[in-house]
Formats: sequence, structure tokens, C-alpha cells
Amino acid sequence: MNSEYQIAVMDGDYIGPEIMSAGLRVLEEVSKHQNFEYKIKHILFGGEAIDKMGNPLPESTIETCQNSDAILLSAIGGPKWDSSIKRPESGLLEIRQRLGLFANIRPTVITKSMQPYSPIKINHPVDFVIVRELTSGIYFGTPRFRTSTEAVDTMSYNFNEIHRVAEVAFEMSRRRKKHVTLVDKANVLATSKLWREIVSEVAKNYPDVSYDTSYVDSAAMKIIAEPNQFDVILTENLFGDILSDEAAQITGSLGTIPSMSRGKSGPVLYEPIHGSAPDIAGKGIADPISMIKSVSMMLENSFDRHDLAQLVDLAVNRSIEQGILTPDLGGTASTNEVTECIIKSIKESRNEYATK
Ligand code: NAD
Ligand code: IPM
Ligand code: MN
Repeated sequence: MNSEYQIAVMDGDYIGPEIMSAGLRVLEEVSKHQNFEYKIKHILFGGEAIDKMGNPLPESTIETCQNSDAILLSAIGGPKWDSSIKRPESGLLEIRQRLGLFANIRPTVITKSMQPYSPIKINHPVDFVIVRELTSGIYFGTPRFRTSTEAVDTMSYNFNEIHRVAEVAFEMSRRRKKHVTLVDKANVLATSKLWREIVSEVAKNYPDVSYDTSYVDSAAMKIIAEPNQFDVILTENLFGDILSDEAAQITGSLGTIPSMSRGKSGPVLYEPIHGSAPDIAGKGIADPISMIKSVSMMLENSFDRHDLAQLVDLAVNRSIEQGILTPDLGGTASTNEVTECIIKSIKESRNEYATK
């Protein structure tokens, strides 16, 4: 019997609660009779926390995260807080930094069942990950200021910040196709030149892993033209933000992509890569797959439950094969119908397994 795990849950804003509820229903179903016991602790974060506590990241939220075994976060932000003094997004940057979550892993997987939904011509399955540096770079650099006629942001990186995330990328490639591509702008930026120097040294410790580099503009093109040439893309914070939305869209929809953010130790945070989609909130049509796959990533990586993660992934694939899709993938199903379909499929697989 495992002891009971604690999962910190932040429901998010706009479509956040709609897809979180889908993710939690799938978690509940998949863990039934499977010797996986957990308790959920809902905590305030983002816009909801600004409304109730005047702060997107209350101290009690960070404490609960630190004392949990894993963290599930749904998307935050939106027009409601565009002119508030503190924005929900500042809470997101703060939680990443305070929990030391320097490596953000964003997969791009196009299975056979997804191929018809891709906006690009694909003859083979696609499978690569972006390892995005998450707690430094232009998001956090100083000086940062704005006057009425000038504004400054600073992109800065040091040895440790680059080295530790490079190691995550190379270690990960060893469990995959053993290929790392550093994406940068080393033909212009000083920070990129430092990345190249440090990452090429790290690469020497992984002689079994092939290593190359690509300028970010060219990588943006290749993600569309030849996505299969990538295995692990390692890149800095802002480039990773932009490229991961682009990579997501070649799967058919941004609404299907999960992510995990981790540090050296401590709980790992799982969240969809997309935002709170205010344009479709409240309509019951948000794609729940990004959140459901975030749950699967959590089961695999924080709880070592490959069996349960696989049950979820198979059920997601089956719902896609059956064409039960929300409008972002060209379907007519609601969030609830997709979730029900996935739950039904999990039940069926479990019953098949039990009668074998
Ligand atoms: P967005 O990712 O919310 O939406 C972009 C487009 O993708 C929209 O058309 C939206 O409808 C669609 N989309 C996104 N997720 C979907 C889903 N699950 N199902 C179906 N369609 C989906 O980006 P945006 O509109 O630029 O940002 C909205 C807010 O979200 C902003 O406040 C932004 O700062 C915030 N944001 C938060 C996060 C996060 O919490 N991690 C990430 C990105 C953006
Ligand atoms: C993401 C988001 C965030 C980021 C924003 C909301 C601060 O776009 O998680 O990709 O830029 O990191
Ligand atoms: Mn983003």
C-alpha cells in the first residue's frame, strides 16, 4: 500500500476550472482500485487569488505547494486583470522562481491518430520535446524599467543557470532518441554565445548523444518543415515560450499540450502550456486534453505509475480515433463529452485487464 499522496491543485481563471475539473475526474477514475491513494488540496492562485486575497501568489499557496508531492496548475490570467496593479502572470513567474522550477518540459507528439488534425503535411509520427529554461533570461533580468519614452528589459544568464538545464536536456535525451539541439541566437546575442560555450562542454560528457545547434529563426522554420529532425530542443526562456506554442499547433491544437516544470528537488509542477482562453471560457468547449495529459505526466514522473499514465494516454488516443473532439480540433463535442469518452475508455481498459 502506498501512503496517501498530497496533490496541490490551482484551478486557474477563465477556462482554467473547466479543464481542471476534467483532469481531476480522470485522475479519480484511473486511480480507482489501483492502489493509488491521494488527496487534493485546492489552493488560491492567479486572478482568483487577486480577487480574494489581493495577491496572485499568497504565502499559504506557496507553503502548500512546498508541502505537497506534486502540483497541478490550470491556466491563469485574462482581461479582467489587465489593469490591476499585480497581474496573475506575475504570480506564475514568482511560483516558478520560488520553487526553483528551472526546467520546463513541453512535448510535441503527433501520433498516427493525431496526424489528420495537423495543419502541416506529415507522413510519420512526430515526437520531440522542448526543454525550456524557466527561471532566468529576459523574464527575470535587471535592470527592467519603463519611462514614458523608453523601456528596458535585460536578458541575462550565468554558468549555473545554463549548465543545470543543459544536464536535464542531455539526461532526457538518453531516455529518448539521444539527440540534443541547442536553439539560440549566437550570431547576435552575448547570452547565446555563453549558452553555446557551456552546452558544448556539457555535450562532451554525453558522447553517446549527438549534439547540434540551430539559430532560433531557422528552428522556427524547421519545426514546420522537418519536425522529425528534432529529439530534444534545449533553449532559453523566451525562445522556449514562443517555439512551444508553435510546436503545439503542429499537433492540431494548443489545447492538447501538457508540461512539467522541475528543479533539482522538491515537488514538480504540471500545467497545460496554453493560457486561460478567455475567448471560449464559459461555453463548455475547451479542450480538456492538455490538462488530462498533465495528469498523466504527473502519474508517470512524480508517482512512478507508468501503468496509470498509460491507461490515460491510451484513453485519450482512443477518444481522438473515435473523433470525439472539441472545436479546436475541428469537432463538435463539448469538454464534458470528451472527458466522459476518456473516462469510459479507462473503465473499459481496466475491465479488460481485470478479466485477463
Ligand atoms: P491562450 O493560450 O489562452 O489562447 C490562444 C488561443 O488558443 C485562443 O484562441 C484559445 O481559445 C485557444 N486555446 C487555448 N487553450 C485551449 C483549449 N484548452 N481548448 C481550446 N482552445 C484553446 O492565449 P492568450 O489568449 O494569448 O492568453 C489568454 C490569457 O492567458 C492571458 O492573460 C495570458 O497571459 C494567459 N496565459 C496563461 C498561461 C498559463 O497560465 N500558463 C499561459 C499562456 C497565457
Ligand atoms: C507560458 C505562458 C507564460 C510564460 C506567461 C503567462 C507568463 O505564456 O507558460 O507559456 O510566458 O511563461
Ligand atoms: Mn506561453
